[in-house]
Amino acid sequence: MKTIEQLPISEKRVFIRVDYNVPLENGQIADDTRLRATLSTLKYALSQKAKIILASHLGRPKGKKVPELSLAPVAEKLSELLGQEVKFAPDCIGEEVEKMAFALAPGEVLLLENLRFHPGETQNDPEFAKALAKLAEVYVNDAFAVCHRAHASVVGVPSYVNECGAGFLLAREIEYLSSLLENPQRPFALVIGGAKVSTKVGVLMNLLPRLDKLLIGGAMANTFLVADGQKVGASFYENEYVEEAKKILTAAQEQGVKVYLPVDLIVATDKDAKEGKNVNLFEIPEDKAAFDIGKETRKLFAEALNGVGTIVWNGPLGLFENPAFAKGTIKVARKAAAQNAITMAGGGDTLRALKQAGISRAFSYLSTGGGAFLEFLEGKKLPGIEALEKKS
Ligand code: 3PG
Repeated sequence: MKTIEQLPISEKRVFIRVDYNVPLENGQIADDTRLRATLSTLKYALSQKAKIILASHLGRPKGKKVPELSLAPVAEKLSELLGQEVKFAPDCIGEEVEKMAFALAPGEVLLLENLRFHPGETQNDPEFAKALAKLAEVYVNDAFAVCHRAHASVVGVPSYVNECGAGFLLAREIEYLSSLLENPQRPFALVIGGAKVSTKVGVLMNLLPRLDKLLIGGAMANTFLVADGQKVGASFYENEYVEEAKKILTAAQEQGVKVYLPVDLIVATDKDAKEGKNVNLFEIPEDKAAFDIGKETRKLFAEALNGVGTIVWNGPLGLFENPAFAKGTIKVARKAAAQNAITMAGGGDTLRALKQAGISRAFSYLSTGGGAFLEFLEGKKLPGIEALEKKS
């Protein structure tokens, strides 16, 4: 796969697929991490006097123009971050957009309106892809977070443009995640949490043969506890995944992976409670639910991370949005960040939790992907990456 440095971008119209699917609050960007993550690619392209055309989706407008999902606020924020004007096109295809794109001078930047305002984007409609490709002399994908979607701007456009390659963000994601799958520094620990086992089975099964330690927290730990024969009171668990959880526990044992499950929990009557009670695993009252790992479990997890070579983290260990249930995630994350290890994290909730703990910068690598991060770790081929590989 070529990278942007190997492409003839000087004074050319370079169509860069970015993922500016950012959280918005009252029309303002609540978190600009995904914008910042593309700056090295954009600055490099500007240094080469490229004419930059940026394309992204925002939310899921289902092929309709939804004004609240306009990328206009992103153009404004990006101008600020780049320190130069970012022009904004009222659409992503059509005559007016073509005029704007063809009028770009070297070193200018144009952001197109939300790709998903057209149904052709998610349907990977060839006509829509061709209309986008018309704008491009060179195609660059710097949108790792959407590489698991076979959408027009991800897989269609590169099939109509000769010169294609990866931006720095995408190249770095592939490098880190591939090295993790191919040659992780041992011992290798996976810290996994979040609500559902169902979304993590693929990752667990693919990583298990590479792991030394598996630490399970969050509501998904309840399903594993039930699989292990424990009672979890009124806690959320996925009944239909108990058998799957049993299989994972058996496979872990067969493969010599040490599994760490909670030994105590913070329980409460509801998720908005002001405080919870720390109870032993065998003492969860029938009318109470677990919302965080307990004090002993925090210690157990922290000790398990001592001296490991690689830590991968996905999913919070408790309902961290409520400060009463944030301690488990924060304390274990701090311990992970303090290790002399390669520390990697991915997923929207996970990154928010690390940010809340004030330690995101201490991690060696934070993926910009949510679904794409998980699918890569599941060992799946991502269509956006395959589309670029075909071109080399
Ligand atoms: C993400 O935020 O994971 C990506 O932008 C993909 O968004 P999607 O799940 O709506 O395709």
